[in-house]
Amino acid sequence: MRHIVLIGFMGSGKTKTGRLLAEELGYRFVDVDKKITAEMKMSVTDIFSRFGEVFFRALETKAIKELLQLEECAVISVGGGLPVQKQNHKYLKQLGAVIYLKGSVETLKKRLEGDRTRPLLEGADLEGKIRKMLAAREPVYEKLADVTVITGQQPMQQLVQEIVKKWKEYEIQYLLKSKSHV
Ligand code: S3P
Repeated sequence: MRHIVLIGFMGSGKTKTGRLLAEELGYRFVDVDKKITAEMKMSVTDIFSRFGEVFFRALETKAIKELLQLEECAVISVGGGLPVQKQNHKYLKQLGAVIYLKGSVETLKKRLEGDRTRPLLEGADLEGKIRKMLAAREPVYEKLADVTVITGQQPMQQLVQEIVKKWKEYEIQYLLKSKSHV
């Protein structure tokens, strides 16, 4: 089963875009954060404050591993920190095409201002935090990505069409390559 996995920094629009993309393709939509919070019956903020980030990261790995059993094609959106954990790389690649939604600091900041649901961005200097974390994470996102699209510069529907086009091109190459190994 070849799924589509959306990765990117907090505020890059993975959930919103993922939902629309799934609708467009007739795929199921799975949000890993939602899967975790539904199973724990707690918000991400509460999981962080009661059990800590290390525990949350373990839940992410468990969730992504479980998704390998999915029996229908899905668009899967994962939290911004999941790809940063090395142990998750093989699962992300096994799931299917990895698509990086790349947002500029300005776009991310605009979308994250006033947000109270992301424990790692709490406190002063939102822009400084975004810059620092993005600098550390971006090389990992880039390395994992099969397809990259820039977000925040076009209407949602246009972005979805752009993803579909690039994803199809990528999948064709992927299939041709895997056939040539048979
Ligand atoms: C996190 C991103 C969040 C959520 C948690 C940690 C991160 O998901 O998993 O707050 O480390 O970047 P979104 O990227 O969907 O906001």
